[in-house]
Amino acid sequence: MDRKTFEYLFNKVRGASKEEIMKHAKLSEDEYDSMEGSFEEQIKEIQKDREKAADIGPEFVRLTRYLYGKTSDQQKGVHRPDAIKEIKGESIALPAVDKIEKPKLSLYDAIQNRRSTRQYSDEPLSRDELSFLFWAGFWVKDLKSTERVEFTLRNVPSAGARHPLECYLLINKVQGIEAGLYHYHPVKHELVRLEKDADIANQVYEAAMGQEMVTKSAVTFIVSAIPQRTAWRYVQRAYRYLYLDAGHVGQNISLACEAIGAGACMIGAYQDEAMNEVIGVDGREEFVIYAFSVGKKPADTSV
Ligand SMILES: Cc1cc2nc3c(=O)[nH]c(=O)nc-3n(C[C@H](O)[C@H](O)[C@H](O)COP(=O)(O)O)c2cc1C
Repeated sequence: MDRKTFEYLFNKVRGASKEEIMKHAKLSEDEYDSMEGSFEEQIKEIQKDREKAADIGPEFVRLTRYLYGKTSDQQKGVHRPDAIKEIKGESIALPAVDKIEKPKLSLYDAIQNRRSTRQYSDEPLSRDELSFLFWAGFWVKDLKSTERVEFTLRNVPSAGARHPLECYLLINKVQGIEAGLYHYHPVKHELVRLEKDADIANQVYEAAMGQEMVTKSAVTFIVSAIPQRTAWRYVQRAYRYLYLDAGHVGQNISLACEAIGAGACMIGAYQDEAMNEVIGVDGREEFVIYAFSVGKKPADTSV
C-alpha cells in the first residue's frame, strides 16, 4: 500500500473531510475522486475491524493466559517448522565472527552510553563491523536439527529457543557491499541480495512514515517474525514472545553499536502493509515486527 492510499484510508475512516484528506494524503481532486469509488469495501472492513481493535490490548493479554491455551501443534505431532529461512540468490559472505577484532568498550560503558541515535556521520560501516552487529543480534552459534525438532542457539535468548525472527537489511553505506536490500542467513553468516531497485531506501523511508534516519543510516535492520516457529509450541501465547524476542535483539544491537562507535535507533513507527511489501512477506505467516537504523556517530554527539 503506497503512502497516498494509506493516508486516504487512515483519514477517511476517521471521518475527515474531503479537503482534509486531500491535504494529508497529498491528493489532487481527480486522485481523490477516483479513490472515492475504489475503496468502499475496504473502508467498511476497516471500520468493522476498528471496533474489534478498540480493546484488543487487554483482551490479547487475557486470552493468551495459559488457562486458555489449546493443545499445541508440537503436542499433536504436527511436523516441526524449519528454524532457518532459505532464500536463493547472489550471496555475500561476511567476515567470520571469530576473525573480527573484539571491541574494547566495557559492558558498563556500552550500557551507560547507549542513547537512541538518529543522526549519523557519512562514514560507512566496515564489513567487520557489520559482521559484529549480526553476531550480537542474529548469528547462530549452534543449530540442532532432527526430524522431530529443529532449533538454534544465539547470543540473544528466545522463548523455547524457537528464534522466530528473520533479518532483512537495507544497506546504504557499508564498505565493499553495494547498496540495496538483503536477507541475512544466520547459519552461513552471509547476505543474500534481494532487490536491485535503486529506489529501495526511499521505499523503506516511506514505509517508516518518513523517518529520515532510514535514508541517512549506514544500514537499517528490518526484523520480521515467523509466528509458526514459536506458535508450534506455544499456540497463541507465542505472539507475546515474538515481541519479547525482538526486544532482546534490539538491545543487543544497540549495545553492540556503542562498542563500534555507532548508534542505533529502534523503529516501531512504520506502516505495516508497506514495510511487509518492502521485504516481500504476507503480513500473517511472516510480518515485520521491528526495525533499527544504525550509523556511525557524528563528531558532535550531542545530536
Ligand atoms: C519499541 C520502540 C519503538 C520505537 N520507535 C521509534 C520510532 O519509530 N522512531 C524514533 O525516532 N524512535 C523510536 N524509538 C526510540 C525511543 O523514542 C527512545 O528509546 C526513547 O525516546 C528514549 O530515548 P533513549 O533511547 O535515547 O534513551 C523506539 C523505541 C522503542 C523501544
